[in-house]
Amino acid sequence: MEARVAVDTPTVIRREDYTPPDYLVDTVNLDLDLMPSETTVTATSAMRLNPDSKGNVSSISLSAQHMEIDTVSVDGVLLPSQAWRHDGETLEIGAPEAEAFDLTIVSRIKPHENTRLEGLYMSGGMYCTQCEAEGFRTITPFPDRPDVMAIYTTTLRADKALFPILLSNGNPTSAGDLPDGRHFATWDDPWPKPSYLFAAVAGDLGVVEDSFTTRSGREVALRIYVELGEEHLCGHAMESLKRSMRWDEEAYGLEYDLDLFMIVAVSHFNMGAMENKGLNIFNSSCILADPETATDADFRRVEAIVAHEYFHNWTGNRITCRDWFQLSLKEGLTVYREQEFVSDTHSRAVQRIGDVRMLRSAQFPEDAGPLAHPIRPESYIEINNFYTMTVYEKGAEVVRMIRALVGVDGFRKGMDLYVQRHDGTAATCDDFVSAMADANGVDLSHFQRWYGQAGTPVLTVSMSHDPGSETLTLTVGQSTPATPGQPDKQPLTIPLAFGLIDRNGDELPLEGIDGTVGDSSATTAIVPITETEQKIIVENVPNAPVPSLLRGFSAPVTLKAELDDDALYFLMAHDRDAFVRWDSGQTAALRMMLSSVDAVARGEVMPAVDPRLINALTRTLEDASLDAAFRAEALRLPGSADLGRAMEVIDVDGIDAVQTATRRAVGRQLRDGLLSTYKTFSTAHPATDFSTEAMAERDLANVCLSYLVAGGEPDDIALAAAQARETSMTAVMAALVALNEVDDPARQTALAAFENRWIDTPLVLDKWFSLKAGTGLPRVHEDVLALLSHPKFDMGRPNRVRAVVGAFSRNQVRFHEADGRGHRFLADILIDLQGRNPQVAARLAQPLARWRRFDPIRQASMRKELERIAATPDLSKDVYEVVSKSLA
Ligand code: TRP
Ligand code: ZN
Repeated sequence: MEARVAVDTPTVIRREDYTPPDYLVDTVNLDLDLMPSETTVTATSAMRLNPDSKGNVSSISLSAQHMEIDTVSVDGVLLPSQAWRHDGETLEIGAPEAEAFDLTIVSRIKPHENTRLEGLYMSGGMYCTQCEAEGFRTITPFPDRPDVMAIYTTTLRADKALFPILLSNGNPTSAGDLPDGRHFATWDDPWPKPSYLFAAVAGDLGVVEDSFTTRSGREVALRIYVELGEEHLCGHAMESLKRSMRWDEEAYGLEYDLDLFMIVAVSHFNMGAMENKGLNIFNSSCILADPETATDADFRRVEAIVAHEYFHNWTGNRITCRDWFQLSLKEGLTVYREQEFVSDTHSRAVQRIGDVRMLRSAQFPEDAGPLAHPIRPESYIEINNFYTMTVYEKGAEVVRMIRALVGVDGFRKGMDLYVQRHDGTAATCDDFVSAMADANGVDLSHFQRWYGQAGTPVLTVSMSHDPGSETLTLTVGQSTPATPGQPDKQPLTIPLAFGLIDRNGDELPLEGIDGTVGDSSATTAIVPITETEQKIIVENVPNAPVPSLLRGFSAPVTLKAELDDDALYFLMAHDRDAFVRWDSGQTAALRMMLSSVDAVARGEVMPAVDPRLINALTRTLEDASLDAAFRAEALRLPGSADLGRAMEVIDVDGIDAVQTATRRAVGRQLRDGLLSTYKTFSTAHPATDFSTEAMAERDLANVCLSYLVAGGEPDDIALAAAQARETSMTAVMAALVALNEVDDPARQTALAAFENRWIDTPLVLDKWFSLKAGTGLPRVHEDVLALLSHPKFDMGRPNRVRAVVGAFSRNQVRFHEADGRGHRFLADILIDLQGRNPQVAARLAQPLARWRRFDPIRQASMRKELERIAATPDLSKDVYEVVSKSLA
């Protein structure tokens, strides 16, 4: 007898089960009739049997969810209702005799009731769509998988007064009036695309227009659509778009391929933005920016995300993914391209430091927890759960390592071949690696293990020097910890970029090392580490140097190098490689802070901050020859995530106590230097200057301000309170973030004024919600509960939910209070949210997955809440997957 599976255990989808589609779709004719109570969708697909399909095809099987199906016709002939069956997931239609036919389906959906924000839904009075990954199946029954690529013609019909703007992918071909005050517009997208790139928008929108001339001389109209009254907030996004278009031509020879490129900003959106062909849809937080309402960091984010979505036009749209296991093919590569664009536009060193900071604080923990997966996962329950730091950020690191192995020119050759081979198709990660290998005549088969193996490798390096033979030996070892489903790991190809620095601070020449690759230079060697243990021999080294290891963070690994503190401070002062200079400072600070956490845990008094760290920070503060952006980064201490990651068991309270004490000590001991640097840079540029230099100098000033406030002098708190009354959002937010950690009336006053000033501006009010939920001060629990009944709280708007819940769960010391009320708060929210918006709920659930990293009391409380969520009736499969894997 067959084992009975519980009816509600969701199906696991496996990469090895991939089979080609039974039917292909050449064209789709889609008609969306947008009526007040429901939308009628009529879809005619020109289908034909796939010559590559396996086996007998007895039915057409289409994905179809959250809809009522009215009629099904083949070649214009209505099928009797016994000829098809819809079970709420799938529409099965008896296979027609013909090999090619037109299938027409009429169905009805309710966008007004769609709280999932997937498929067709309403946002702030407008209709919009979100189809990636599998939202198209909630609009019309379809073979909703990325290897089915079709040419779409879309007609929208709607009330003309309420929805004067009707948009879809491609070019507008006809439009006109209909009876009863309605109108229509038809759009044609000439490029075959997978269904996840379909988009449609209807609304009463403002528009900002511009144009771009491609390098072959074609003029492209650019339009950004926003809610009425927001038009003045689009300038930065438009400039970023034009720079991205130019960059892709210059860096990769890739031109835009339609006459029109549109972006629509919406207020209700599950993630950052979406690369729909010719019609990107953005979370308005990633488009709208002016100096009064957006910080410099917001400006950078808008620029990066606009670029990211634009770059998808080639890496994602023209060449898409064969199946969702290949997601990193487009996401890892596009993140890499976005990072390179920002590096070329601003500061390469500072971009790298920021990317590494994020990778370590968010991807490394994911790779070390119960949700760890390779950049190309082997299985999933809900694909939306795999838009992760691993697929995106580690995926970008894997692409970057290929560049390290083949060099910049080799990488460009590989990209050219990849585009030449796969343009217009749905490709795999293997295809990408093959193109890189073939274009360069190298073998990347060993390297390919990165696609299948999860976990952050540990790279150990020890050095021995023999003065007699003047030989230096680096002994390099690698190992990768076990992850769920992968107990035993194989060695990977790890490009190790390194240099050697002599006692005078000069770089040693590194000619003649065996096996160097890529753009190795006279003083930086790149050696691929492929074995569990490997030796690198350098000749003609008379005196023992200090090694500068993992330059530019040449691989996403944890480096264990046994350098003593003196070596770290030496590298901090002398290394030519900005990343290693920064990282050495971070490692030294981390070491000192960890030993203080240990001391406090043993019951000792808090040790004083190491004077060498104070000296190093002083030098950074005072060295005007250093770039301001680098100085700001080097002055920042490791965060609570960094300290937690380095501990066996995360000591939540100890970490907080040491961070607070260290910041306070730095603020007091460096006060004069901090004040003078603050004064020099806080007003050096007008707030409307968004040059790299102006943003860097403001950042440096604001890092100084945060230490000054931590130092606690009333004059310095007053300085921040005054800055909080300025008009530039960068200044205001920096002051508020600093004040947010001090129990002083100035904090209350500044927060209340901010709330009052921005009560009707949702994107700015989100910042206030985050500040309230993010403070380390003890009253935060009462505040967070009160935020849920704030008149402006809205469980239906993801940005607001994230502002409260996301900020609170990142607030390590308060979220993880030992009494468990933080955990209970999150579980209550998730149970409420998971039915309404499963995708957002599953993301917000992730902090609970890390329960094994805490002490027994906190572990028990987190487990209890996970079990409570698991027991929720009708649990969505998104949350089910996160919770069940966390408890496994
Ligand atoms: N493809 C989008 C990007 O990386 C991300 C994305 C996937 C997305 N699914 C989504 C965005 C759902 C919003 C909603 O650029
Ligand atoms: Zn993307």
